[in-house]
Amino acid sequence: MAAITLKNLRQWKSEGQKFASLTAYDYSFARLFADQEIPVLLVGDSLGMTIQGHNSTLPVTVDDMVYHTRHVRQGAPDVLLLTDLPFMSYATPEQACQNAARVMQAGANMVKIEGGAWLVETVRLLTERAVPVCGHIGLTPQSVNIFGGYQVQGKTEQQAEQLLNDALALEAAGMQLLVLECVPISLAERITKALSIPVIGIGAGPHTDGQILVMQDMIGITSGYVPKFAKNFLTDTGSISQAAAEYQRQVQAGTFPGAEHSFKG
Ligand code: KIV
Repeated sequence: MAAITLKNLRQWKSEGQKFASLTAYDYSFARLFADQEIPVLLVGDSLGMTIQGHNSTLPVTVDDMVYHTRHVRQGAPDVLLLTDLPFMSYATPEQACQNAARVMQAGANMVKIEGGAWLVETVRLLTERAVPVCGHIGLTPQSVNIFGGYQVQGKTEQQAEQLLNDALALEAAGMQLLVLECVPISLAERITKALSIPVIGIGAGPHTDGQILVMQDMIGITSGYVPKFAKNFLTDTGSISQAAAEYQRQVQAGTFPGAEHSFKG
């Protein structure tokens, strides 16, 4: 696989070609996903739950993200690699720069940060200092204690307007990619059309430019609770490689996510 860059993602958006992405946290899975030509991997702070067994992403540290980024990069030298900045590691623009430097030096191509228009200054500063930024709005798991749980966001017209305005403000500040999590299908479509940058959805319906799944959700490793947007691709394929390939095929064909994996509205 030739090295994937943001330029590829922008081109795919302009051509209407859907793309798949997955989380990865170690060398072996990163290599396996790269071998299946999954173009974008995320070292997500979901590792706090999937790898460390916590009940939220809040305990994850920058040291954790640096450690996992280094090993994912070893397995997937050519993917576009996103790394989350964890809870409270970008509370100020200056902190964001210091911590972004650490994950970029560990091998990330861009950092992902959760939040709306309050991050405009941070996005501007990071971008000016050569750190590409992926935003993350909708259900932002680091805010679980504000939300009081993991619920669908943007269900009222007022909340939908707020999310659209957040996305536009972050794009104007320099954000180059956006993750939209757990929002109604129609809102995801509206935001995807309003932005010129690529939008990746999770629980956001079929109309975003790309899709992402937590890798354990893609192969049916759960702790009992299965999110509505998850799909186990291993059952019908029989191997993790083929599951990843089938996930990518269904995303590109527009058959995943289906209505049963999405939120109406
Ligand atoms: O941390 C993570 O895995 C994420 C994805 C759910 C997008 O942010």
